[in-house]
Amino acid sequence: MELQYWMKRISLNYWSDENNMSIITKAVFPVAGMGSRFLPATKATAKEMLPIVDKPLIQYAVEEAIEAGVTDMVFITGRHKRAIEDHFDKAYELEAELAANGKDELLRIVQSVVPKSVNCIYIRQSEPLGLGHAVLCAKPVVQDEPFAVLLADDLIDGQPSVMKQMVDVFAQYQSSILGVQEVPRANTRQYGIVSSTNLDTNIERVHGIVEKPKPDVAPSTLAVVGRYILTPRIFDHLENVRPGAGGEIQLTDGIAALLEEERLLAYRFNGTRYDCGSKLGYLKAQVAYGLKHKELSADFADYLKSL
Ligand code: UTP
Repeated sequence: MELQYWMKRISLNYWSDENNMSIITKAVFPVAGMGSRFLPATKATAKEMLPIVDKPLIQYAVEEAIEAGVTDMVFITGRHKRAIEDHFDKAYELEAELAANGKDELLRIVQSVVPKSVNCIYIRQSEPLGLGHAVLCAKPVVQDEPFAVLLADDLIDGQPSVMKQMVDVFAQYQSSILGVQEVPRANTRQYGIVSSTNLDTNIERVHGIVEKPKPDVAPSTLAVVGRYILTPRIFDHLENVRPGAGGEIQLTDGIAALLEEERLLAYRFNGTRYDCGSKLGYLKAQVAYGLKHKELSADFADYLKSL
């Protein structure tokens, strides 16, 4: 079994030696979902543009990828393409106005949304056919390289950033990795849940993955959250995945097929995750980030105490 596994890895992962496999340079940001839980706020803008204090969710995710060494940001956009493109582009009129009014600090903030060395690439997902389909849309850009996937609505406060932690694990193991955390058993229906055995500190070897199991049949309480490093083989599997629950092409189904032929790891990250796809998680993130914001922290804490 082990021999078979390694032979497959040698044939499938030929890029590992030749292409400096330990470096992840591309990150995919699926931002084409409906965001229906946030309607009407998301009627005319993407959920990922909702701010936490003063920065949109997508910017936190991009900053996390930059910290992990990623240089090419691949956004899978939908109807709300415009706002996201504009956010990461130069804003001529705004910058000229701030410069003319001597608002240098604000000008610096606006100009430093992404460093010049970072490339932003936009691919349109014409219909929201599911997260798996959104990731598949990145294939023409990612091609034959391992890559990161970040779901911006999972905001994770980690030191170093969670994607940086995962890239370090990848450098060591050269396998696909899922970011995971323990969840209450009652909540397994909201997640992909893995079955696994421990491999190293905070690292599990995954043996199975199921999408949104009922609590009584969930194989564990270890849930996949919105951080992945995937080998390019995932694209071949996603091309063959049939629509599952809700008619969507599920990323979990592609990962389950990948698991049949490659080692798959789960990483218990260090960090606090806020599920900003839900209203309660979003409000918790606002409070946590408000309390640590350099200008607001003390006043906001006083205000909360006064309530
Ligand atoms: P969600 O499952 O949170 O769905 O997607 P959603 O549509 O964004 O939100 P709700 O459930 O209607 O409120 C997880 C991530 O996958 C992206 C979303 O933008 C989000 O980042 N996604 C989902 C796509 O890019 N395309 C899809 O077809 C589906």
